[in-house]
Amino acid sequence: MAPTNKVLITTPWPTEAVDTMRTHFEVEVHEGPLPMPAEVWQAALRDFDAIAPTVIDHLPPSVYAQAGRRTRILGNFGVGFNHIDIDAARNSGLVVTNTPGVLTDATADQSMGLLLAVARGISLGDWHVRDGQWTGWSPTDRLGTQVTGKTLGIIGFGRIGQAMARRAHFGFGMQIVFHNRSRIETAVAQGLGAQQLESVEAVLKVADFVSLHCPGGAETRHLINADRLNQMQPHAFLINTARGDVVDEDALVDALQAGTIAGAGLDVFAEEPRVHPGLLGLTNCVLNPHLGSATLETRTAMGLKVVENLVAFFKGDSPPDAL
Ligand code: DGY
Repeated sequence: MAPTNKVLITTPWPTEAVDTMRTHFEVEVHEGPLPMPAEVWQAALRDFDAIAPTVIDHLPPSVYAQAGRRTRILGNFGVGFNHIDIDAARNSGLVVTNTPGVLTDATADQSMGLLLAVARGISLGDWHVRDGQWTGWSPTDRLGTQVTGKTLGIIGFGRIGQAMARRAHFGFGMQIVFHNRSRIETAVAQGLGAQQLESVEAVLKVADFVSLHCPGGAETRHLINADRLNQMQPHAFLINTARGDVVDEDALVDALQAGTIAGAGLDVFAEEPRVHPGLLGLTNCVLNPHLGSATLETRTAMGLKVVENLVAFFKGDSPPDAL
């Protein structure tokens, strides 16, 4: 019988996905400490044929440079891969895969949820009630901002950006404007009630809500900086379920404190799990702990996608989601 390939999962997954992985491979799950320490990585690279990291794994350089490495593939559990140096991986002969497609709806749902939460004071309202501060209904109590019929600006019109547009346009009658590096087919944009604009600034100037859906990484680091926050309308809200460092958090805190924008709904942060202390004291933002893909169905589907990629790779086929 051919020897079974060994797979290390760096952070526990939903049971169904781990069980499925076990039907194909000899599997170990690193239970902690999390994220997996550098010395555990070093040993793992000698002992496992495949490693399945997540967004919390900031891969040490040994991943790419280690002599005598046994690992041939990194099956990333997640669509974003800015925590992996793809060029270094390729140059060292490591294949990297991700999990596109399966978390589109969950992430767009979360983005819409944050938009509603910050515009309508849903999160603060919850605390108001729990804290015993609610004294009764009033025509002027805790007035939020109407969402229906407003203009949503989307930065990054890939799968998740388009899913967000679909929800906002068909569910909430919003007009959609967006910026995307490449041209999106007019028929696709029109089908979502959306119009592509030439620059990020053009979107920021007209949007009542701005939602970020671009990839992370060096190219988009601080894409939303002080200048661009200044381009937004004072009544506008910023929603970020992409990557924390797409936004200059110091500049965002300044804008939220000064009221140059109305609020923010943030699911991601530049130095997770650390949150900029300036954000913690502000009531015009809603903060979530990177929950974009956090449904049992989606996290299971992400794990199954990693399995699919590893099975294809070890069969000698090209993995469907090779980067
Ligand atoms: C992703 O898939 O990129 C999510 O942010 C979780 O990793």
